[in-house]
Amino acid sequence: MSAPATGHRDLLTWVQQVADLTMPDRIVWCDGSDDEYRRLTDELVETGTLVRLDPGRRPASFWARTDPSDVARVEERTFICSPDEADAGPTNNWVAPDEMKRTMTALYRGAMRGRAMYVIPFCMGPLDAEDPKFGVEITDSAYVVASMRIMTRMGTAVLEAMGTDAEYVRALHSVGAPIEPGDADVPWPCSRTKYISHFPQTREIWSYGSGYGGNSLLGKKCYALRIASVLARDEGWLAEHMLIIKVTSPDGRVRHIAGAFPSACGKTNLAMLDPALPGWKVETIGDDIAWMRFGPDGRLYAVNPESGLFGVAPGTGWTTNANAMRTLARGNAIFTNVARTDDGDVWWEGMGDPPAHLTSWTGASWTPGSDEPSSHPNSRFCVPIGQCPTLAPEYHDPRGVPIDAILFGGRRKTTVPLVAEARDWNHGVYLGATLSSETTAAAAGEVGVVRRDPMAMLPFIGYHAGDYVSHWISLGKSAPAAALPKIFYVNWFRRDEDGGFLWPGFGENIRVLKWITERLDGRGAAVDTPIGLVPPPSAIDVSGLPATDLEAALRVDPEEWRAELPLITEWFERFGTKLPAVLWAELDALKARLG
Ligand code: GDP
Ligand code: PGA
Ligand code: MN
Repeated sequence: MSAPATGHRDLLTWVQQVADLTMPDRIVWCDGSDDEYRRLTDELVETGTLVRLDPGRRPASFWARTDPSDVARVEERTFICSPDEADAGPTNNWVAPDEMKRTMTALYRGAMRGRAMYVIPFCMGPLDAEDPKFGVEITDSAYVVASMRIMTRMGTAVLEAMGTDAEYVRALHSVGAPIEPGDADVPWPCSRTKYISHFPQTREIWSYGSGYGGNSLLGKKCYALRIASVLARDEGWLAEHMLIIKVTSPDGRVRHIAGAFPSACGKTNLAMLDPALPGWKVETIGDDIAWMRFGPDGRLYAVNPESGLFGVAPGTGWTTNANAMRTLARGNAIFTNVARTDDGDVWWEGMGDPPAHLTSWTGASWTPGSDEPSSHPNSRFCVPIGQCPTLAPEYHDPRGVPIDAILFGGRRKTTVPLVAEARDWNHGVYLGATLSSETTAAAAGEVGVVRRDPMAMLPFIGYHAGDYVSHWISLGKSAPAAALPKIFYVNWFRRDEDGGFLWPGFGENIRVLKWITERLDGRGAAVDTPIGLVPPPSAIDVSGLPATDLEAALRVDPEEWRAELPLITEWFERFGTKLPAVLWAELDALKARLG
């Protein structure tokens, strides 16, 4: 489609304004059809951005390599441009909206020369929701269009549903690499100058210079978390960095669990868990983002606003995440920065035995003797969630699923036990607010450094982090305590002295979920420790599990926890007067319990 089939005046005006500024060769209104996807991917193969994989084993699937400088989210270049600097809080970069718009308008001027400008109408969450959340992304990247088709509901149906006056988030993206007359394009256009800017007051996103998913697929982290967290604050709901699963125990009881872990800390894997315990069933609803609202019954209902999976490739294999492998085997996937086999398949570290020869993510010839990994640690697969064999039917329900338990978790080599239960909602919010994790390759910068990451939302809160945790505290008052989800803290990543994981993780995590469901039932043994309710080793079902040092995985060492106290105090001090007093009280109570 190239003529706009819409009478939405505001949208038409905005599209024209952007075209006047960015000066593309042509404007393409995306219809979301199979035909369009085929055409775009054909074009991307021609320009060298994509390589078609062997249709026999990877139908309609493609391999992409980014510029080596454009492999992850760029938190240093991400801005929350609220009118008042104080509203961005201590955890976000801030520039005044006018100033940022001036700077970026200059960058956008002529930025799409020589390129097509695509208009992507999209909807986060089911289109038949009571209050569908629309967005329109304008981009000069066909890779972004193809990926947005996987990750969101987009195209003509959305444009029709928007009618002539629906509200929508304006999301503008350019790779920032105009093609001058006579010049050829490069396989991965991007710019050294990058800005990922959010204007919460006017619900706008301006992204420039990067093609990496988290920076360019603007429905995902930018809209569904940063902008939506502001909408959620204003409208009394929650936009969270959480997976959603449906867990059925052998006796047929159904529970829904949401879990917040920082990027590359296990959400996608837990969302697709293949249970190691017989009789248990885990179904997938979401792997990255949960929008949650209280229902009339006082329970918290969660919806996954996305329609695809954008998962970390390394570590994904038949023994760790068979359901992801099955989802990918059905085709229609875009792989970015993994390695390609000589016979048109993909490979990455953790998939199994390496082939004798590969083309690595940098394009170099690779053999198992090579010093560097074949795939970038933040290499990704992008695939429709509808292909996931464990997708729960409730995924499609715009009302969402009632959440019984919320997990907070991170990557900690020491200190944090495998699982602990919060005493109540406020204690759970305290656990979330003090969540800590080692940094990963999902964001540019140093890897393996412990940082506080409230509710795994540190890079995604669109306003003041103190107001954000207050919002969590106040929502706990909007429902009877018995209706609220119970909150748990998990850590799959604790290590022994030799650096090995103390807990086998992946499908074995069902053993922890089993204890959690027992706690929800008011059963399941727990020891009252200073940090929360922790199972004694005997309370975790280890039937069929090879020898595991559960004692060590579950240990709460007061010495280690006392060492956390100054770090938590320092963290809380950063929030100033915005930190709810009840969280200081939780810290004081923890200090008292630790003696
Ligand atoms: P997400 O970015 O939060 O969705 O994280 P992923 O589920 O994609 O996992 C990120 C990385 O952590 C991958 O390399 C996984 O193989 C690894 N991982 C996920 N779950 C576990 C687990 O339970 N134990 C261990 N040891 N690694 C895990
Ligand atoms: P994830 O998100 O690592 O939480 O899946 C993608 C990203 O960080 O860009
Ligand atoms: Mn993920």
